[in-house]
Amino acid sequence: MSNFDPRRNNSLFALDAPVKIAVIGSGYVGLVAAACFAELGHSVVCVDSNEEKIAALQSGQVQIFEELLPELIEKHHGKRLTFTTEITRAVDEAEAIFIAVGTPSMESGDADLSYVESVATKLAHSINGYKVVVEKSTVPVYTSAWISRVLARNGVAQHEFDVVSNPEFLREGTAITDFLHPDRIVIGTASDRAFAVMQRIYKPLTTGTYFDGPSSVPGSCSVKSPARLLRTSRESAELIKHASNAYLAMKISFVNSIANICEAVGADITEVADGVGTDKRIGRRYLSPGLGYGGSCFPKDIKAFRAVASQAGLDLRLLHEVERINDEQQAHFLNKIRSTLWTLKGKRMAILGLAFKAGTDDVRESPALQIVRALLTDGCTVVAHDPAAMANARALFPSSAISFVEDPYDVTNDAHALVILTEWPQYAELDFGEIKKRMLYPIILDGRNLLNPTSMVEQGFTYVSVGRRPYFAEQNVDIKMKYGR
Ligand code: NAD
Ligand code: UGA
Repeated sequence: MSNFDPRRNNSLFALDAPVKIAVIGSGYVGLVAAACFAELGHSVVCVDSNEEKIAALQSGQVQIFEELLPELIEKHHGKRLTFTTEITRAVDEAEAIFIAVGTPSMESGDADLSYVESVATKLAHSINGYKVVVEKSTVPVYTSAWISRVLARNGVAQHEFDVVSNPEFLREGTAITDFLHPDRIVIGTASDRAFAVMQRIYKPLTTGTYFDGPSSVPGSCSVKSPARLLRTSRESAELIKHASNAYLAMKISFVNSIANICEAVGADITEVADGVGTDKRIGRRYLSPGLGYGGSCFPKDIKAFRAVASQAGLDLRLLHEVERINDEQQAHFLNKIRSTLWTLKGKRMAILGLAFKAGTDDVRESPALQIVRALLTDGCTVVAHDPAAMANARALFPSSAISFVEDPYDVTNDAHALVILTEWPQYAELDFGEIKKRMLYPIILDGRNLLNPTSMVEQGFTYVSVGRRPYFAEQNVDIKMKYGR
């Protein structure tokens, strides 16, 4: 957690022309965008159809776990930031309307755009003068053209709106910092009028005035090095988003494949990734092996991007392979658990981590939950801990075979093995001497390479991780047999 407190000084840099903004959808993206636009000096109404969510926000409760988000909401709530379920009231006054609703996968892999269409239809009945409608959700190419068509079909005159594509690149866990210190801001539009509104919205970031403010959220941008704004066509902006996520997912599948080679030949993936990643053309980021990528975005966006390509008559087989490697990565880790413990039925498994990655309470498409499900299917008893995601996970596991504990040490009581599934840094700080005393067998399976192998071996653990040599506390064990590959 950062020590930074954005509430401590409420004086702002001068913003010459604040924009009245409505954000439709108050989830991970909409809520962060709304809070950040308020932080930039704009006047923001945040809308959601979920009455419970809006009531909570109105009473000052933030229901998602995201660093700095509660502080920013508290700072601006009731001043430049308000919440409502009434789309018409929000749209009435707004100059720019951001659509930030979900675009989940359908069975076919295509993105389900029904939430976007529903918002567009509602907007059509509320528009009362020129509005810039901004597509913030991640969507297939041509969605902005479809939104324009829906508005026109529902009687909105062409001169009353422009639809702009402004994809979002934030990561959960670091969403506020990512939003206010972006690598780039992409604005896809052919309309100079709409572009001018978008420039005003992002001006504090692109001119750098925001970073000079006494209470600005710190990050990689500065007055001297402000955010870059790229103007593109709408179609290019839509493709930039899908292509960026696809590239990052490809990097993860690549490093997971190399991790498997490391295991087969006795090399160490950390050393290999460092050696490869120091090449500036490649870069070290997104080269951490593990359980494969999860979350609400990469899995669905890879599928949606393949569907886009297929509709354009192309087969993005590369992405098929990225998905296949990702699925196998989890299966491979499960094999390691099975071959380290031999039989699983009746074994007591201590689970650390349920979120799809550290820093979030989000369990959507979490590799951790997929591993837990498989362990339950194999007849294990599971005791789990996560610093943020237990409430979300509990809602998905009615089974009595899984229990949740508030203290991470308690998962290890009488456990046959400890399995690390999310890389929360606080887990690396635990007292493993104490953990060893509590466990039935001193076995750790580290799906995120969170721990130091040397330290674990010195403390007498059997330690199995990803792309690194496994260490067995017991002597005379044939390691090749252990993996069963
Ligand atoms: P989310 O599920 O957390 O939030 C979506 C919100 O939209 C929900 O609160 C829902 O109640 C609301 N909603 C649905 N229909 C509505 C309607 N008709 N009117 C008003 N509100 C409505 O989703 P999210 O994670 O914020 O993602 C939103 C979009 O942003 C997706 O397209 C996603 O791919 C994209 N995106 C997400 C992230 C991320 O890190 N989560 C990052 C970049 C882009
Ligand atoms: C990702 C992108 O990083 C964002 O730029 C994008 O805006 C967002 O998707 C989106 O479109 O919604 P996010 O899903 O929050 O952000 O999480 P990441 O930090 O990118 O991690 C995604 C998954 O990949 C996690 O399961 C993580 O554990 C895994 N990962 C990440 C690895 O296995 N190895 C790595 O080196 C990096």
